[in-house]
Amino acid sequence: MELGHVVVLAGGLSYEREVSLRSGRRVAEALRSRGVPVELRDADATLLDSLTDDPPDAVFPVLHGAAGEDGSIRDILELLDVPYVGARPDACRVAWDKPTAKAVVRRAGLHTPDSVALPKEVFHDLGATAVLDRIVHRLGLPLFVKPTRGGSALGASVVHEASGLSAAMVGCFGYGDAALVERHVSGTEIAVSVIERDGAPEALPPVEIVAPNGRYDYTARYDAGETEFVTPARLTPEAAERASAAAVTAHRALGLRDLSRTDLIVDEHGDVHFLEVNVAPGMTETSLLPRAVSAAALDLGTLCQDLLLARLS
Ligand SMILES: Nc1ncnc2c1ncn2[C@@H]1O[C@H](COP(=O)(O)OP(=O)(O)O)[C@@H](O)[C@H]1O
Ligand SMILES: [Mg+2]
Repeated sequence: MELGHVVVLAGGLSYEREVSLRSGRRVAEALRSRGVPVELRDADATLLDSLTDDPPDAVFPVLHGAAGEDGSIRDILELLDVPYVGARPDACRVAWDKPTAKAVVRRAGLHTPDSVALPKEVFHDLGATAVLDRIVHRLGLPLFVKPTRGGSALGASVVHEASGLSAAMVGCFGYGDAALVERHVSGTEIAVSVIERDGAPEALPPVEIVAPNGRYDYTARYDAGETEFVTPARLTPEAAERASAAAVTAHRALGLRDLSRTDLIVDEHGDVHFLEVNVAPGMTETSLLPRAVSAAALDLGTLCQDLLLARLS
């Protein structure tokens, strides 16, 4: 089979629109370098008509944020019978909701920080102070607060003192309707990308993230030079093996397909803690999956091409 017409879907309406556009350009460029004819498209009001009037052989979705990662766009692609790369909608929904994903991977045997998920309404209705006191009492300090759904560390912050939790929650609610309050884990932050070749998920080399001041926030992520990446991550062989196995376990337990990236922290004892998994990992020049692909001496264009081809058969 040959790919005659591929659509790379990027952009969309989310806080991560700009990042998605950059990811989309990178994937399009990589595929074109392999001679694949690519149309780069935004997920806008003209998308449905264009997919119906001129159906592509397959779609490569690189949409971050809600529609891209919660399964909705993929539901549409299923409705249109257009093959696409990546996890199916039902699996996306589970992965996108961090508390749900944590529950699934914990059942599959992984460690993930203890946490409490709190919707905005409950927080307001039940009296913020009392609830926050109980959370600090239960989980201890420091804590990490982030939206239950979201990405790019938007609305996320560390809380060192009980008095700071309230402000962290309010900051979080600016980006989502529910907050996930987790025990803060210190250690080496890594990302493990998983790709499927010949139907078997395999982990690429772990990439270590050394963020300025230890904070891998939005700026640290997308401004070149802000963050240092070490590939492969500086881990003992045993810890590296555990991290790779954890990412493959998460990919399998969540029923993902083709590619995913799992964010983990390896603590001082070498124990691996699951933070979250991404079904539409960043693909920009500074993103983690492309780094892991290079570290594995693979070519991004060839990989994307193979993933698309696998959807045609
Ligand atoms: N429990 C935690 N302990 C310490 N740091 C955390 C914790 N959870 C998240 N972080 C930090 O916040 C960043 C964003 O969290 P993550 O769960 O990956 O969400 P997203 O990338 O979707 O915003 C991580 O890359 C990590 O630096
Ligand atoms: Mg993350």
